[in-house]
Amino acid sequence: MYQFLICTALCIHLTFAFPWVADLPGIDTSILNAKTSPRAHRKRQSNNAGSLENCPVNANHPGAAPYNPDYPYSGAAFPIPGSGIGGYEVPAPGDEAHYFTPPGEDDIRGPCPGMNTAANHNFLSHDGITNMAELMDAQQNLYNLGYDLALIIAVRAIATAGDVTTTKLSIGCDATPRTSIDPTGLLGDEQGLDGHNKFEGDTSLTRTDYFFRGDDFSFNTTLWEEFVQYAQQYGGGQFNRDTITAYRSQRYDESLNTNPNFYFGPKSLLLYGAASFIYQVFPGSNHAPDLDTISTFFGAEYDDDTDTWTHVPERLPSNWTNRATAYTVPEVAGEIFDTFGSNPKPIGGNAGVGNFLAIDSIGGIVNGSLPSNETQADFVCLLYQILTENIPGEVSNEPELPLNALTFIISQINPAFANSGCPLKIA
Ligand code: HEM
Ligand SMILES: *[C@@H]1O[C@H](CO)[C@@H](O)[C@H](O)[C@H]1NC(C)=O
Ligand SMILES: *[C@@H]1O[C@H](CO)[C@@H](O)[C@H](O)[C@H]1NC(C)=O
Ligand SMILES: *[C@@H]1O[C@H](CO)[C@@H](O)[C@H](O)[C@H]1NC(C)=O
Ligand SMILES: *[C@@H]1O[C@H](CO)[C@@H](O)[C@H](O)[C@H]1NC(C)=O
Repeated sequence: MYQFLICTALCIHLTFAFPWVADLPGIDTSILNAKTSPRAHRKRQSNNAGSLENCPVNANHPGAAPYNPDYPYSGAAFPIPGSGIGGYEVPAPGDEAHYFTPPGEDDIRGPCPGMNTAANHNFLSHDGITNMAELMDAQQNLYNLGYDLALIIAVRAIATAGDVTTTKLSIGCDATPRTSIDPTGLLGDEQGLDGHNKFEGDTSLTRTDYFFRGDDFSFNTTLWEEFVQYAQQYGGGQFNRDTITAYRSQRYDESLNTNPNFYFGPKSLLLYGAASFIYQVFPGSNHAPDLDTISTFFGAEYDDDTDTWTHVPERLPSNWTNRATAYTVPEVAGEIFDTFGSNPKPIGGNAGVGNFLAIDSIGGIVNGSLPSNETQADFVCLLYQILTENIPGEVSNEPELPLNALTFIISQINPAFANSGCPLKIA
């Protein structure tokens, strides 16, 4: 009874900041450490760097370079899956349609180096407005991601930041009139990959937290320099698993300690998955995750004269061959397990600096530690749970995903988990 009363008091604070938390199954509210009464911090997305008003418009929407049987790569042509066989040089010599083409000022680019590079090589439409088919084929043919992994990323992105009917998605700012089934936008904003707490989140490796400038997508050279130092210190100059583990942990701590709106929800575990691409996908089969290779993908260029880094368009390293074997869901789950698990962090958010509110018992994560019996296989199911959970990402009144978006996610990704042994939801 006594415990119940304590929980009631704390839960009022908790639900004030995270109104949806009370409804989550299995939430252990006993570990809350709210020190003061939190206030809701809702920031509007409009009129910020990634908003519709600031989003460039290119009247020319070329679409991805069409499938060419002379240069099939893994042969993915949605809905036809690729072979999963890689080791291809990309772009293949002679495949001019996929040669590097820098973006013009009317082209949209965003927070993902993988997508920006793909658009700069016409694996996605060069204007930055893409769709399900392009995302599926680019991820397989260019990067040799497995069909299942490509599917869950594309589906999650379209459902949260694009349009489930047209399947269109902006890889950067809000381009609702060009992505939505309803160009007037009455059905709601489609914020694109820049949309904060949709897919993008705090603690990015090379992007500033949304709170500080309303720009969560531009490359930040200061963060990049820090990342390079971490590679020297923890990876012997390589952007390998040890570097990512250490730097992700540091980025979490920095956000926790400086960002009053810091939010690191269950979905933020996916950022560890994205970070694993740096050492699992960017090296392909004939490069190392070294400074040359990784800076080329991130568009970081060093100027010897001024001794500074600047940002240039992201591109593929020359003479680059993609991964020999497809990168799959169990592998990425294993990487999240390793990198997060070596340095686990509490899940939750700040209601002001110094006032962290934990949300626990997500996949057994309690107070920022994993149960000792947690396995890599458990993480595959955790990944499924995170992808299909309808947890709005903001510390306040962000509406839930609309039912059609959630139905889209569950129905589309269930096949990717059919053999996982995880309990699946019904769409
Ligand atoms: C449909 C496919 C994809 C979508 C929609 C997507 C979207 C995103 C988004 C929104 C972020 C920002 C997350 C954050 O807040 O830090 C991100 C980060 C990242 N993505 Fe992607 N991504 C996709 C596929 C890929 C692929 C195939 C690669 C690599 C080949 C890749 C590499 C990365 C990396 C390295 C980051 C971390 C950047 C940073 O933290 O500074 N992504 N992605
Ligand atoms: C880049 O990141 C640094 C370190 O977090 C920060 O101090 C700076 O304000 C950021 N710059 C921009 C333009 O966001
Ligand atoms: C390209 O990479 C291959 C190994 O995949 C190597 O044998 C060859 O020398 C490289 N060519 C150039 C021009 O760097
Ligand atoms: C979590 O941490 C809090 C504060 O340090 C502590 O009071 C609580 O007992 C911990 N809970 C568990 C389950 O370890
Ligand atoms: C791990 O241990 C916890 C309690 O310590 C238990 O509830 C859970 O079922 C165990 N999980 C597995 C997969 O054995």
